[in-house]
Amino acid sequence: MAIKKLYIQTFGCQMNVQDSEKMAALLQSSGYETTDDPAAADLIIVNTCSIREKAAQKICSQLGRFRQLKAINPHLRIGVGGCLAQQWGESFFKKVPSLDLVFGTHQIHRLPEMVSTLDRTGDRRAETGFCEQVPSLAIAAQPVAGAVSTFVTIMQGCNNFCAYCVVPALRGREQSRPLPEIVGEVKLLAGQGIREVTLLGQNVNSYGKTQAGNPDFADLIRAIGEVAGIERIRFTTSHPKDLSPKLIASFGRVGSLCEHIHLPVQSGSDRVLRSMNRGYTVQEYREKVAALREACPGISITSDVIVGFPGEEDEDFQATLALMRDVRFDNLFSFQYSPREGTGAAGMDRQVCGSVKQERLRILQALQTSHTLEKNNACLGRTEAVLVEGVSKNEPHEMTGRTRDHRIVNFPGNPGLIGMTVSVRITKAFLHSLRGMMEGRGGAHVH
Ligand code: 5AD
Ligand code: SF4
Repeated sequence: MAIKKLYIQTFGCQMNVQDSEKMAALLQSSGYETTDDPAAADLIIVNTCSIREKAAQKICSQLGRFRQLKAINPHLRIGVGGCLAQQWGESFFKKVPSLDLVFGTHQIHRLPEMVSTLDRTGDRRAETGFCEQVPSLAIAAQPVAGAVSTFVTIMQGCNNFCAYCVVPALRGREQSRPLPEIVGEVKLLAGQGIREVTLLGQNVNSYGKTQAGNPDFADLIRAIGEVAGIERIRFTTSHPKDLSPKLIASFGRVGSLCEHIHLPVQSGSDRVLRSMNRGYTVQEYREKVAALREACPGISITSDVIVGFPGEEDEDFQATLALMRDVRFDNLFSFQYSPREGTGAAGMDRQVCGSVKQERLRILQALQTSHTLEKNNACLGRTEAVLVEGVSKNEPHEMTGRTRDHRIVNFPGNPGLIGMTVSVRITKAFLHSLRGMMEGRGGAHVH
């Protein structure tokens, strides 16, 4: 069988990155080898995202560029998978006539069969059905060669209906992987040199509800905490309403659970939170933060905020800034609200105008910049345990890694350190990273 070339471009979140790795593995068995040059490809797959309008626009212009390659290579096939493919389905062919294949978030396992039918018959198809059990959830994604840290999907889908969010409609209801299957995968990864796993799901806190024996997320963390060779455990994303006292207590108890949590708050106004259907109040969020800091002093807390949700008044926005000043997030990802078709908020009255959203985002980001810098500056002079992940992007003589609380650290060193935990004294702090000097191996965590 002649080897064919596959080029995959991924948009969106880590879940999509994982899915792309699964697609590559599945197509490898049908004789496709991946390439990083789209012009050399026989098959191009764009794994799409639909979280905000901007994502959809970027994807369409990228598909326009790929279409030009068809003029040079008439045998080139172009497919789209992922969330926008799930959303647009058959109509993707009308919007982008150069497409050959559309497959949804539950249809990844059928990719080889779809590609071979396409090759045989030339028929263009859109497959976007949902499955009771998503078959691709059980496929282990293969980490990049030489990787120290990787993601492990533990569940997918979501049973919450946040009014702004298109994900439940595109990924379906929550489904968890069996605990023994996940632990088995983590053991294999440890054997391949992985030292850090990030457990991945749309709402990891509600892990296990569909599983035998009802293991919960804290049980899963404890089980992974016993896997030899895994030094660090992280997870994303958590819903504040499902963050249990048992999980909070895990921070002090499971040695490999890193001192960082990403806990999206979305707004600091009760009125807006209610209209978003988030299921908690600002006070409850503050109490969770306090409990986390009590159980794990110094824990790093990052979050997501949406500005300009329908009906957000200036006083609501001021409440978000006030929450930020009180909590002092280590980092914050912030977005202008983007109406998504099929979500509760898209049809709400009192949509906020673009220039107001833009201005609010600017103010919020300036405030967060000062907080992030303040937090990073506080690391100066400390000695941190850094898990070395690779050579720094900009400096060939520097290594890069992360602290347990998720800050990037660059320091002079050599590639022999990759995969080790070393002690680094922090000498410089920037907005996106720290710099330091190595003091020794073995990773003291001295503050
Ligand atoms: N508009 C803007 N931001 C959104 N997010 C999710 N949906 C939307 C939307 N319609 C943000 C939320 C979420 C993050 C991944 O993306 O803050 O936590
Ligand atoms: Fe984008 Fe959400 Fe789908 Fe991830 S799950 S690809 S963020 S729409």
